[in-house]
Amino acid sequence: MQVFTVEDAAKSDIAAVMEIAELCGLSHWSKRDLTEEIEMEKAIFLRLMDKNGSCVGFVLGRVVPGAIRDWDADLYNIGVIPHERRKGGGELLLAEFVRRSHKLGAKNVWLDVRVSNASAIDFYSKFGFVNEGRRKNFYRTPTEDALLMSLKITARHRQPLKDT
Ligand SMILES: CC(C)(COP(=O)(O)OP(=O)(O)OC[C@H]1O[C@@H](n2cnc3c(N)ncnc32)[C@H](O)[C@@H]1OP(=O)(O)O)[C@@H](O)C(=O)NCCC(=O)NCCS
Repeated sequence: MQVFTVEDAAKSDIAAVMEIAELCGLSHWSKRDLTEEIEMEKAIFLRLMDKNGSCVGFVLGRVVPGAIRDWDADLYNIGVIPHERRKGGGELLLAEFVRRSHKLGAKNVWLDVRVSNASAIDFYSKFGFVNEGRRKNFYRTPTEDALLMSLKITARHRQPLKDT
């Protein structure tokens, strides 16, 4: 039975996404910041829908010029509402994010995660992300180091995951 689908999100989803981000304890983005971000060139903004058509998760990021050459994707935020976790929705969102990043020319995906966020670190590691180092005091309220993680996009990431 299909539980979730991943779709393009739009400005009209911003209010729902802000609520989900709050429920997930993610760092706050204002409506204005989110609007500006999704209007950027090569932005990737996707929503996770349940079988009743409610938005239960999202991912936001952007393909940007890499530090040395090529293009990379930065994943800024991903979240699934608490009672829909561990059902494959997060992986579905992440897989589609990586596929879209590849289509927009990215060779790698990069992200930062709080060092205390063990469940997210496990989630990214299971997907294939590797630890690239630590950024001291990267986060505020509370102040905390970030773990920098990356994924090299390979052929296996270029196919869509089947919706769960
Ligand atoms: C991280 C997050 C998006 C994962 O979403 P999800 O829908 O639960 O993820 P999935 O069900 O697709 O999990 C895929 C795999 O990741 C790993 N994983 C996910 N959550 C985990 C947890 N809490 N503990 C350990 N492993 C976990 C598991 O290996 C899981 O596979 P399994 O359930 O078959 O064991 C979700 O927990 C979330 O929204 N967290 C709060 C927001 C957040 O921290 N975002 C990241 C900010 S950098």
